[in-house]
Amino acid sequence: MNPISSNDLQTDPSQFPDLDVYAVAGNPIIHSKSPAIHRRFAEQSKQAMHYGRMQPAIGQFIQTAKAFFAAGGKGMNVTVPFKLDAQALAEVLTARAQLAGAVNTLWMKEGKLYGDNTDGLGLVSDLLGQGIQIQNARILLLGAGGAARGVMGPLLEQRPAQLIIANRSSAKADQLVHLFGELALSHNVQLAARSLQDLQDQSKTPQAFDLVINATAAGLTDQSPLAESALGNIFKPGVFAYDMVYGKTTQFMQQALHRGARVSDGLGMLVEQAANAFLIWRGADVTIDPRAVLLELRT
Ligand code: ATR
Repeated sequence: MNPISSNDLQTDPSQFPDLDVYAVAGNPIIHSKSPAIHRRFAEQSKQAMHYGRMQPAIGQFIQTAKAFFAAGGKGMNVTVPFKLDAQALAEVLTARAQLAGAVNTLWMKEGKLYGDNTDGLGLVSDLLGQGIQIQNARILLLGAGGAARGVMGPLLEQRPAQLIIANRSSAKADQLVHLFGELALSHNVQLAARSLQDLQDQSKTPQAFDLVINATAAGLTDQSPLAESALGNIFKPGVFAYDMVYGKTTQFMQQALHRGARVSDGLGMLVEQAANAFLIWRGADVTIDPRAVLLELRT
């Protein structure tokens, strides 16, 4: 699958009068796989559309997105660092986007700009697609920034037995517990916060986890959020370790592998969040095959 096409750089809707035009916006955006993924979905479902990528300057997202939609753009995916700007720009937010505190999918409908967040659904779809059971599972979520918050709602809706959020600064993990406390209660999920330090203390993590998700930014600087002394408490045989970062075997994944855990990077989450955006834009009845696209990306 050809990841980059020079046509990707075109995002002016007036240049494609016969096509519905979409784009992904981020900074940087050069390495984005989204155009290739959406091109494949369009081929699979025979949709007449063009999908390009754009790199607004920092501070220029809102202006750029407004111009794109004013020129007839139909929808946009939004990635780092513009998801909060996208949330501010959207006139109507889905409940999911409000809970996630960020928007990764925008679309124009009847003159109004809508915003949703498909990241959490993407993670859940990928986990289920890999045969990982979330219902009744004990989950450890590492990190309490935007990436962690974005997936909490959809994870809780799967009704795990327990969701522990562990963060370097435990105050941020406490805030997420507060924010999602009601949702957890309504789904009968035990929700609690820890510091990363706590994970080194076996008395504070007495029971094994089934699923450990790394939503910290540590992998981007070749670090792991987990100290060596915490690994024995966390990675027991049978654990599934998932890193939201993709394209490399992170330190976190290596630690898990050495302890006999199964691991996954976040490429499937990327494809599945794109699939959910595509279905919002083009209608839930179109037929696409995200797992086939994921396989193509991996080969
Ligand atoms: P994102 O939107 O990607 O989540 P963010 O909001 O800046 O970005 O949050 C980054 C997350 O990664 C935070 O949970 C951060 O921990 P702190 O809240 O304590 O800062 C975590 N993080 C980043 N680098 C880390 C590292 N080297 N070790 C552990 N946690 C790290």
